[in-house]
Amino acid sequence: MSSPLGPNLQLCTPEMTGDMREHNIRVPASTGLFRATSQLPDVIRQAEARIDGEEINFASVPCSLGAEADSMLSLFRDTRFTRIGVQGVDINPRLIELAKAGNYQTKWTVLEPEEMEQTIGALEDRGFGITDLETRPMMVKPSKYEMPEPTTLVKISIDAKPVRAGQTVDFREGDIEYGVIEPQSQDIVLANNLIYHLPAPRAAPVLWSVARMVKEGGILSLNDEPSTADNETYPMRLEDDSTILYRDWMRVASELMAEMFDLEPIARDATSERPTMLVRSSDGVPKSSDSERFLKILGSLTV
Ligand SMILES: C[S@@+](CC[C@H](N)C(=O)[O-])C[C@H]1O[C@@H](n2cnc3c(N)ncnc32)[C@H](O)[C@@H]1O
Repeated sequence: MSSPLGPNLQLCTPEMTGDMREHNIRVPASTGLFRATSQLPDVIRQAEARIDGEEINFASVPCSLGAEADSMLSLFRDTRFTRIGVQGVDINPRLIELAKAGNYQTKWTVLEPEEMEQTIGALEDRGFGITDLETRPMMVKPSKYEMPEPTTLVKISIDAKPVRAGQTVDFREGDIEYGVIEPQSQDIVLANNLIYHLPAPRAAPVLWSVARMVKEGGILSLNDEPSTADNETYPMRLEDDSTILYRDWMRVASELMAEMFDLEPIARDATSERPTMLVRSSDGVPKSSDSERFLKILGSLTV
């Protein structure tokens, strides 16, 4: 569970409501602290190598509970960047309310006493506060043939406000598709665990909007958990009959974004070869005919 960076903890997100289905959003969603254990530090390393000075800004789109943004703020504490601007946007108003409050709870997790101590220590070292710790005894059967053994379930309440102290942090409700972040304004855009949430018709316009946010020399992160969208050529059909995307669609979309926005891929997904981290090498604005081509190519792939 622990990494040298901070404990990778799954957080409780409130169940999405029917309202989210109206927005055509896959439900439910999950998020975590230090979730992308290698991607976030890689993004930070790239930023240190490419962006001068002490000031940096980044967007977390979507931000969910704000834990991705807070993980970044925690990691930035070890760098020369001291003035940080964060914008987080999510379509779910309940998540934004919680993101603003900056308190989260982990899911109930099995932790031995020693692991619990390590986890708490690691969180505190990373700048987070611990406001509550609930425990529950539980019997677990290690395998079909073994006797149940006692163990402990733990739920940790975390205060993220200390990692935000002194920085400019803005979480707000919005739909990423519709100009929620100024074009070409961000040094870093984290669009992680987004693509597989999008039903096919919404995916291309949302990705177009995300690519526009990155400034010249800026970094775009398009990481998704590898277990998702693992079907290569067919769309996945959900219980509610909406369709989400498949791996090859995601690869074509990332390559097209790279081409049209002068984004140079600097990291790729090991399985699909899809670009997962890209750097913008010019400040050119794509033409509206490019946007039409982008939507047309990706639209035709999802039929
Ligand atoms: C799995 S979370 C990702 C959060 C975070 N980036 C991470 O990696 O943990 C996906 C979020 O996308 C949000 N979402 C989906 N479509 C959106 C859109 N068009 N605009 C804004 N938020 C959106 C959902 O509300 C959900 O909270």
